[in-house]
This record gives sequence, C-alpha cells and structure tokens, in this order.
Amino acid sequence: MGMPTVYTTAHVLSSVISAAKKTGDVGFVPTMGALHEGHLSLVQKALEQNSLVVVSIFVNPTQFNNASDLSNYPRTLNTDLELMSVFDRVIVYAPGVEDIYPEHDFFEPIDLGELDMRLEGAFRPGHFQGVVHVVRNLFHIVQPHRAYFGEKDFQQLAVIRRMVKLLNFSIEIISCPTYRSVNGLALSSRNMRLTHQGRAEALIISETLNYMKGLDHDHPPSKVMELGHAHFSKGKLTLEYLEIVDAESLMKLTDEWSDHAVCCIAAYCEDVRLIDNLAM
Ligand code: PAF
Repeated sequence: MGMPTVYTTAHVLSSVISAAKKTGDVGFVPTMGALHEGHLSLVQKALEQNSLVVVSIFVNPTQFNNASDLSNYPRTLNTDLELMSVFDRVIVYAPGVEDIYPEHDFFEPIDLGELDMRLEGAFRPGHFQGVVHVVRNLFHIVQPHRAYFGEKDFQQLAVIRRMVKLLNFSIEIISCPTYRSVNGLALSSRNMRLTHQGRAEALIISETLNYMKGLDHDHPPSKVMELGHAHFSKGKLTLEYLEIVDAESLMKLTDEWSDHAVCCIAAYCEDVRLIDNLAM
C-alpha cells in the first residue's frame, strides 16, 4: 500500500496495463476527482473483481454546459491520492486535456435518442455527448475488462450502456448503489461546495424521494409526483425536475406504473446543482 502510482500519459499507462493483462483482469473507475466514499466503494468493488484497478481523474470540459460549473468544480488531486493509499493494486491516470483529446481525435455524436432529451438531457444540452466522448476515449486508452459507475448518475449509466452497445466495446459495465451519508444525502463531489446549512437543507431531496416511495402505489404516478412536489416545496431548494420515469425508456410515467419505475430529481442548493434518484 502507499500512494498509488500516477500516470499522466496514455502512452505509458497503456504499456503498464498491457503487462498487467498478461496475468489478470483490469477494472476501470472513471472519475472527475474530488473523491468521496462513493468513489471508494466503486474502487473496492473493482478490486474484488480484477487484479489491477485503474482510476482516472480528469475534469472533462466537454461535459460541462456551464463555464462557472466547470471552473468551480473541486480539484483535490493530493487528497484523492491520499484517500486511495489504503488500497493495493490501484493505479491512477491523471492526464491533461491534450492526452485525452489529441489533435487527430475524431468524434461523431452517437444517437442517444430519448436518453439525451429527457431529464438531465433536457436541462444540460450536450452534456451526455461530452460524457460519451470522454468515456469512449478513456475506454480506448484503458481497454479494461470491466468499468464501474455509480447509480446516482442513473441516466449516465443508461447512456454508457447504450454507447457500449452502439460502439461495440467488449467491456462489462458494472453499476454500484448510490452511497449515502447516514442522514440520507447522496454523496457527490459537488457537496464539497455546500455550507453546513446547505448540507442540512439538501436533505429535502432524499426525504422527498423516500416519502414518494412510501406512498400508496395504488395512486397513479402522476398523483405521487404531485404529492412529491408538495413535499419538496416545504424545503428551501429550487427544483429543476422531479419525475417518475420508466427505468429503461426514461419515459415519464403518469397514469400507469411500469415494472421498474424510478423517481429522478435535480435541484439547486446554494447555487450547487444536485441530482438523486430512487427506485419506486
Ligand atoms: O461520473 C463522472 O464522474 C463523469 O461523468 C465521468 C464518467 C468520469 C466522465 O467524465
């Protein structure tokens, strides 16, 4: 154990990974840094299933549709490395922009259909194509057996699965449950930007989701959403959306429940945009 080795170029990283693949599987945890317990749980899961785990740390400019969100995104590389020093068999890839997006890089946006129009897609135009672009490039560089993503970014997970299918990657996508603090707040790197009071106020997000889950599902989804909105408005946050959707198609459910319904929410707390979701 000790601080993980950090690679900053794809070229050197690839040769280390090729050598490792001769004796075992390689797992990959892509991140934008500012690591928290949620990320560490992904690394832990990856370590259980692979002999080497690559963690990338790269704040990807192409997925931010708001310049101040990009510049305010926390960057804490030294702390991130310290957090990972408890692990054996982990290496870090922390490249610069030119390594991920070389001059000859060519990216044709892929057809994400409804996935790109609903929920996050509707409020963050271009966001998912930016995620697809960076994850595609990272997958080409790392070429892992398995890649790990958190369920908090529920829609991102669906987008990644679609990309893997469309671009024929033979990489297993593993989803891991949302990691929550004891009082229910979903862990997010963005929480670092909240004040103590903001963190307390943000609890209305998970409280609303749990309240909606607990409601009688003899009510149609539209009624549960109506009650959910009323509950959320008791708090101080500014709501962007609160919707019950089908977990696969992401189509909004109104009259009928589907077998896998999930409630997704995005809201602003102290100018920080937070998202969460819960299976109904
Ligand atoms: O979920 C994230 O942190 C990012 O969207 C990802 C997958 C690392 C791509 O930049």
